[in-house]
Amino acid sequence: MSDDSRPSPTEPRTAAVIPAAGRGVRLGPGAPKALRALGGTPMLVHAVRAMAASRAVSLVVVVAPPDGASEVKSLLDAHALPERTDFLVVPGGDSRQESVRLGLDALPPDYDIVLVHDAARPLVPVDTVDAVIEAVRAGAPAVVPALPLADTVKEVGPAEPGEPEPVVATPSRARLRAVQTPQGFDRATLVRAHEEVTEDVTDDASMVERLGLGVVVVPGHEEAFKVTRPLDLVLAEAVLARRRLNDGFF
Ligand code: CTP
Ligand code: MG
Repeated sequence: MSDDSRPSPTEPRTAAVIPAAGRGVRLGPGAPKALRALGGTPMLVHAVRAMAASRAVSLVVVVAPPDGASEVKSLLDAHALPERTDFLVVPGGDSRQESVRLGLDALPPDYDIVLVHDAARPLVPVDTVDAVIEAVRAGAPAVVPALPLADTVKEVGPAEPGEPEPVVATPSRARLRAVQTPQGFDRATLVRAHEEVTEDVTDDASMVERLGLGVVVVPGHEEAFKVTRPLDLVLAEAVLARRRLNDGFF
């Protein structure tokens, strides 16, 4: 590896926090989701490799299931990962938000940019990771990769007992985006968001929105989908098979 491939000393250093402490209830019974195999390799290892594939990322913090930190450490030791990237493993919490905060608490001081990436998005391409980092370097306090929606989205109200749910609104699809990870942040902004925002959220950028700061979008990628339900595993295996075929021929 040439010296050119390392971030220059003047560039802000970038770390990735990977929340991987969830059970994966919607995937069905079995090992914690992050430890389930994809193409014979645990999903978490794919996710770590996807972050380490970016030359800008020099540290990956994995937030493991609370009782599984040592298992995750041995797993990462057993799989080949790029030499230029350091790894830390910390135990997670009861909610994704708490797991991310525990990961942030473990970050050494000399990292100015933080990515937060779901272990459940094992196949995100490196170009998406780099685009997020680039937008944070360009000055955005928070950046999300996102895609337009295929489906129309309806807001529904509570159903009367025995009745179907009523539709109350249909937001204009053209203005909606489905948001993925890695989400990228100015580190100080994300730390402040975790200190000040106490409401439940489903992504990290919405905490920064609640501080009243700007969040911007870069193009996401269809291969950055989240493995949530059993059918997503079928799709993930198919994406891996297609990559292997392409690598073999090109
Ligand atoms: N996560 C976490 N700590 C938690 C809950 C979730 O680190 N207490 C992580 C998951 O491991 C996953 C990411 O947050 O990588 C996105 O969450 P999700 O897809 O909802 O995963 P799970 O919570 O594991 O799945 P489910 O909601 O179906 O149980
Ligand atoms: Mg969940």
